[in-house]
Amino acid sequence: MQAETQSIVVISKDPAVSTLVASVAQFRPGTGVQKCAAALCDINGTALQLAEDNDLVIFRAEGNAEQDAAAVRGMLQRTGGAKRILALADAAMPFADLRRLMDAGVCDVLPDTVSADELSAAIRKCLDQPGQPDPRAGTGAERSREGMVIPVAQSCGGAGATMLAVNLADCLTRRRGLRRKEAEFRVALVDLDLQFGAVGSFLDLPPNRCLYELASEGFVPDRVFAEQSLTEAAPGLRVLAAPAEIAPLHALKPEQVQALISHLRLQFDFVVIDLPRALAEWLTPVLEAAERLLMVTGSSVPAICQARRLLDFYGEASMSLQTDIVISRERKPLIAPSHHKEAARLLQKPFRYWLPDDASAAAAAVDHGVPLSAAARRSGLAKAVRGMAQDLIKARNARAGAAQPAQGKAV
Ligand SMILES: Nc1ncnc2c1ncn2[C@@H]1O[C@H](COP(=O)(O)OP(=O)(O)OP(=O)(O)O)[C@@H](O)[C@H]1O
Ligand SMILES: [Mg+2]
Repeated sequence: MQAETQSIVVISKDPAVSTLVASVAQFRPGTGVQKCAAALCDINGTALQLAEDNDLVIFRAEGNAEQDAAAVRGMLQRTGGAKRILALADAAMPFADLRRLMDAGVCDVLPDTVSADELSAAIRKCLDQPGQPDPRAGTGAERSREGMVIPVAQSCGGAGATMLAVNLADCLTRRRGLRRKEAEFRVALVDLDLQFGAVGSFLDLPPNRCLYELASEGFVPDRVFAEQSLTEAAPGLRVLAAPAEIAPLHALKPEQVQALISHLRLQFDFVVIDLPRALAEWLTPVLEAAERLLMVTGSSVPAICQARRLLDFYGEASMSLQTDIVISRERKPLIAPSHHKEAARLLQKPFRYWLPDDASAAAAAVDHGVPLSAAARRSGLAKAVRGMAQDLIKARNARAGAAQPAQGKAV
């Protein structure tokens, strides 16, 4: 008799597949079957959640093996490889596609003409063997040490998102020691504002062709590419700047961005991502990997309305996304005026952080191509960013279960 807690989720647009699985599973007492009438590659964050909530995922491959394989990798990575995944596919599926799915980590690919007995045997094999943690995914403890992904978005042009991304990444390194050369954390700063990225110019770094190559050549980046494409900007801080060439925003593919982020979060404690103010399919893997999205916005009505629209879109791409609202170019008022309260109601979120309007500090940093910590360390703007970095470090340490280091003082 099986344990009463085993559960299978069937992800398929074709109801016949779920019916077949349910009819087979009824002979395994205590095994529940959940149905999800969708194609795997269409449900993104939901698939990750389903993989977490169930012991076995059975999906019908709908013809795009590359995307299905990326989704399988995502699920195994999220669950530490402990969950089992079976695919059902057209009997005429090309061998190369079959290999893709197997390489991604599915236990088996069965033809959708499979008999009930064969399916039953495959399910038994999956459920009766304890899940082997996938070495590619790492153990639970290793995953808890994975870098924290923090995308920075803006509701309107010039809001200060790039300024925040650059200086937050700088502060997150928490450098100290002689000439502040010892970084406590490794931070990657990635400029995904592919067409108009300005991270490089904030830090006086040349444009970087790597994202252009990804977009134009279409390959999925491996660990070495991810490692070698970043440039050191300061101790602990490595940057992937945007290219000088303008590539179409949609030329980047979700699986490329997903792979890039996965590699970076294994190598860095924090991955800060400057997002474009445009919508693209590849934002989904960014949002799925994100632990905290920072939405930089003004408090004016048009800016708040834009922020609301973007947050709705982001929320659809990743249901579990946690967002903090950052009000740019304003100090936190002692008593919130009524338009702030209304704006927070519209966003369904409080205004969490405030970045004061400090043109001279911002200009001093940009003019010298250095972070605020080097150009205007004592400014209100620098202090506000430092405060945000400290909160994020605390959140990361709490997640990793690591005690805050006692020595040293924050930047
Ligand atoms: N709080 C601030 N006070 C004064 N100036 C600021 C502040 N934040 C940013 N700036 C300056 O405003 C300009 C625009 O900032 P930034 O590039 O960060 O905006 P953005 O939201 O990334 O805009 P976009 O990506 O649309 O160009 C920069 O010159 C920056 O130095
Ligand atoms: Mg910007």
